[in-house]
Amino acid sequence: MSGSEFGPDASGWSFDTLAVRAGQERSQFNEHSEALYLTSSFVFENAAQAAARFSGAEPGNVYARFSNPTVSTMQQRLAALEGAEGCIATATGMAAILSTVMALMNGGQHIVASRSIFGATQQLFGNVLPRFGVETTYVDDNSVAAFGAAMRPTTRLVFVETPSNPLTEVFDIAALADVAHAGGALLAVDNCFCTPALQRPLQLGADLVIHSATKYLDGQGRVLGGAVCGAQPLMDEVFKFLRTAGPTLSPFNAWVILKGLETLSVRMKAQSDNALALAQWLEAQPQVARVYYPGLPSHPQHALAMRQQASGGAIVSFEVKGERAAAWRVVDNCRLLSITANLGDTKTTITHPASTTHGRITAEARAASGIGEGLLRIAVGLENLADLQADLARGLA
Ligand SMILES: Cc1ncc(COP(=O)(O)O)c(C=O)c1O
Repeated sequence: MSGSEFGPDASGWSFDTLAVRAGQERSQFNEHSEALYLTSSFVFENAAQAAARFSGAEPGNVYARFSNPTVSTMQQRLAALEGAEGCIATATGMAAILSTVMALMNGGQHIVASRSIFGATQQLFGNVLPRFGVETTYVDDNSVAAFGAAMRPTTRLVFVETPSNPLTEVFDIAALADVAHAGGALLAVDNCFCTPALQRPLQLGADLVIHSATKYLDGQGRVLGGAVCGAQPLMDEVFKFLRTAGPTLSPFNAWVILKGLETLSVRMKAQSDNALALAQWLEAQPQVARVYYPGLPSHPQHALAMRQQASGGAIVSFEVKGERAAAWRVVDNCRLLSITANLGDTKTTITHPASTTHGRITAEARAASGIGEGLLRIAVGLENLADLQADLARGLA
């Protein structure tokens, strides 16, 4: 399956065409590339129009904390790719998660989240939201029954990342949507690892898709950004929070992400192909205890991943024998792979999650998430496969 096999949207355009064209509105100058509107406010024809724009009686731009044409183009393009009615762009991926919770939840309500979610999301759910009366129950295994058992009458949100960071655990989106809906809750899927080029959670029954656009949507490690996509009434609520609280995406970043979306399909395909080959090679190395990659038949949820994803994606994690010292030796011997926590770049990156992205959560929580001291995460880019293998072989030897 490739991105284009997701088929045409209501406009009749297929995924690859939408990625290049959706949402563009030309100005009076008829520019070919999308215009970058660097302006903090917008001018009105007269006082009556100003009043109508502020009240919402007349649609249109008012002030860039609320909306900006470059940001709107990016929102429309991503919504088209996710098959969503609407999209709200935010300053970062974390701002997208925060805005979703603040817009759609009240104190006294409850979240059911998979244990294997990004470290900062765990911090937000575990340390920040409880101060506002929102509690989270973490589910330690990925069975649908375990999610069902964690539901409470007050559960408003079920939140998963699939595949998860960094262990690439895969969650059954369609089954979890049924669990969430049976309990009157919404299912939010962080689609950061797959992007809509490989997985479309809304088509599988999820209510909200969340992105760190910092990752593959930009795709070249240049800017921070985030987004939430879903049905228009939900997006209207997120918009109300955004225009008031201000975690808005800058138009410059939106423009960079727009350009990234144009190559999303080809990048995801090429990077996934590279990742699969690297995962197969890692699995054959005697110093490697275990490889986590949904595209490998050895992955526990390989069949599920192949059902709901177009490929295994471009993140490969692996456990080296010899704990932290051996893992750090691999990192320290890299001359090509970048030692950086970001992922989703055309440049391959390597991270030791236990001491970086997941370093702030407690050792017990790390152990419960299965993040061991020997674990390394590679976000595979577009370099030549043999060069990547040679770089890793030095540290493994
Ligand atoms: C899966 C996932 N979700 C959310 C985030 C947060 O995104 P941002 O860094 O853009 O705030 C990240 C960042 O690494 C991530 O990996």
